[in-house]
Amino acid sequence: MAVNIGKIKLTMPFFQAAIAGYSDFVMRSLARRFGAPLTFGGVMIDTSAAHPVVRRKLGFIPREGEHPLGGQIVGTDPASMAIAAKALAEVGYDIIDLNFACPAPKVLRRGRGGSMMNDPNTVIEIYRRVRETVSCPVTMKLRIGYDETDASSEDFWKIVETAAAEKIDALIIHGRTVTQHYRGRADYSRIYEVKKRFPHIPVFGSGDIFSAEAVMERINAGLDGVSVARGAIGNPWIFREACAIIEGKAKPASPSIAEQKEIITWHFENIQILHGKQKAIGYFRKFSAQYAKFHPEKKLVHHDLVGAPNAQTLLAAIKNWYS
Ligand SMILES: Cc1cc2nc3c(=O)[nH]c(=O)nc-3n(C[C@H](O)[C@H](O)[C@H](O)COP(=O)(O)O)c2cc1C
Repeated sequence: MAVNIGKIKLTMPFFQAAIAGYSDFVMRSLARRFGAPLTFGGVMIDTSAAHPVVRRKLGFIPREGEHPLGGQIVGTDPASMAIAAKALAEVGYDIIDLNFACPAPKVLRRGRGGSMMNDPNTVIEIYRRVRETVSCPVTMKLRIGYDETDASSEDFWKIVETAAAEKIDALIIHGRTVTQHYRGRADYSRIYEVKKRFPHIPVFGSGDIFSAEAVMERINAGLDGVSVARGAIGNPWIFREACAIIEGKAKPASPSIAEQKEIITWHFENIQILHGKQKAIGYFRKFSAQYAKFHPEKKLVHHDLVGAPNAQTLLAAIKNWYS
């Protein structure tokens, strides 16, 4: 069940989403290892993405062998977004994704991300400028609207219709409005409508993809694929399971305790290498809280893993609970 994003061929109809603060090289490596055919780094502000020193400092550099990799940018100025896109393509990103979806207050305050859903003309102008600047595929991350008003719906369709007419390589649509943030259940009805109206455009749905079955459900409903976000945090196995289900095989058993130990340990050790020992312990908590959910003694494991004050205690807790 392959799907193409422009010249990038995905062997499976899903990828690991852009997740700011999470989708670093280590998380992406795990996603890839378990079968994600494409991963995205976290969103970058256009001016940071364009700046080699800042880019390096923030770790926004693709690693060797890490392909295909999508780079996502956010901004309001078409010229600046085009400069950022060019810089990312030059350092090796394979796809440029334009973020018009982020609901974070600090992003909205500057008119970026989800705010842009209210400004279809600038969205299109950004797309055009980026499109004429880079030769790699260009995609857009949208929400189903800024809010639930008719005006917002009109803006949404204006963006989608124009992007489809101008051959966007894929649309990635989160089934919530910007004002909804992450509340409630994702509504896929508008995403399905996009696919029906523009069957020639690859459409990826985003929202509440927490299991391999959820991946399959959205594909069976007609989407080209899905973006796996929170469902992949502390659960790289979701990709292995999705691969199996899509290939018509039985869903693999949940990871054994021994496999959990191997992955959690590998993840933490590589986070230490990537982010430094001092930052690693705090940074890893958001992952260990999710990993703990797989353990039969999840509450106790959560307590020990998340509460570990330093690397030594954490590694001892892993050894204790997972041996
Ligand atoms: C902590 C966090 C960070 C996120 N960062 C990004 C981001 O950088 N770029 C982006 O397009 N979406 C971002 N998202 C949104 C996800 O990619 C996804 O669209 C959303 O979480 C809905 O999918 P889910 O319900 O399956 O998690 C983020 C979501 C979360 C929870």
